[in-house]
Amino acid sequence: KKISLIGVPMDLGQMRRGVDMGPSVIRYAGVVERLENLGYEVEDRGDLRIGRPQRYDVKDKDNLKDLDVVVEANQKLADEVVDAVSGGAFPLILGGDHSIAIGSLAGVAKDRKNLGVIWYDAHGDLNTGETSPSGNIHGMPLSASIGLGHDQLTGIGGFSPKVKPENVVIIGARSLDEGERKLIKDKGIRVYTMHEIDRLGMSKVMEEAAAHVTNGTDGVHLSLDLDALDPHDAPGVGTPVMGGPTYRETHLAMEILAEKNIITSAEFVEVNPILDVKNQTAEAAVALIGSLFGEKLL
Ligand code: ARG
Ligand code: MN
Ligand code: MN
Ligand code: MN
Repeated sequence: KKISLIGVPMDLGQMRRGVDMGPSVIRYAGVVERLENLGYEVEDRGDLRIGRPQRYDVKDKDNLKDLDVVVEANQKLADEVVDAVSGGAFPLILGGDHSIAIGSLAGVAKDRKNLGVIWYDAHGDLNTGETSPSGNIHGMPLSASIGLGHDQLTGIGGFSPKVKPENVVIIGARSLDEGERKLIKDKGIRVYTMHEIDRLGMSKVMEEAAAHVTNGTDGVHLSLDLDALDPHDAPGVGTPVMGGPTYRETHLAMEILAEKNIITSAEFVEVNPILDVKNQTAEAAVALIGSLFGEKLL
């Protein structure tokens, strides 16, 4: 049972500086010790080196802020994930903003041709340069991974798509842009919005979601954006949206995934210590990682 930790200090996929310190504060909150206490061998591969922002001297390309640096970093991440996987480890990626999911998925999908994805997020992250209201690439990783958008983004890892829309489930959504809504309908992507979470309860939602992403797949990646959680419980994020699942509900979600033992790679993203309150969001991330890897009170 080996876990490879990969830190990605990326903050160029959005406008709020500080999320590049995410990997550092998640380590500070004790992620390595937490996993070791559960009996895992943890290899901390350290942080990737990220380029400098270009946007003050180079004009944005096709409404994609800092495209070249984001592409370069994601290519590096994809290679790093492939390397970790080839050593038999479970890749656990620490962000960084959510644009890094493009590289994570490119790495993981290399030898999983029918990857399932659980996208636990307040947002759909299904924009492209054409539909994005912000030009921020952290709002585009899921669309890029299903093969939509700029070919520099979809081409990371050298193949596209990484995932099929029917193998994706989004959980916790409560902020979707017009183009994203349209895409969800067109592609038939399964989404559990807050409405379904409130109606069915997290337990039922996770049962259904797990069934959906394991149907005909050969692995499941969990992409957990801390802004999925209600901002009361995870204030340290750049794009908070009120009315999210609680810390408790999210723990239950992680425990159900642990019980089912279906997750084959994961990332925890968008922790921004500058916006946080006493490292609460990083601590939440570490506690959730504990539950995902099987921690139990008794
Ligand atoms: N939909 C908005 C945008 O495209 C917000 C995206 C937020 N994404 C995130 N990973 N926090 O700009
Ligand atoms: Mn989000
Ligand atoms: Mn996100
Ligand atoms: Mn609340």
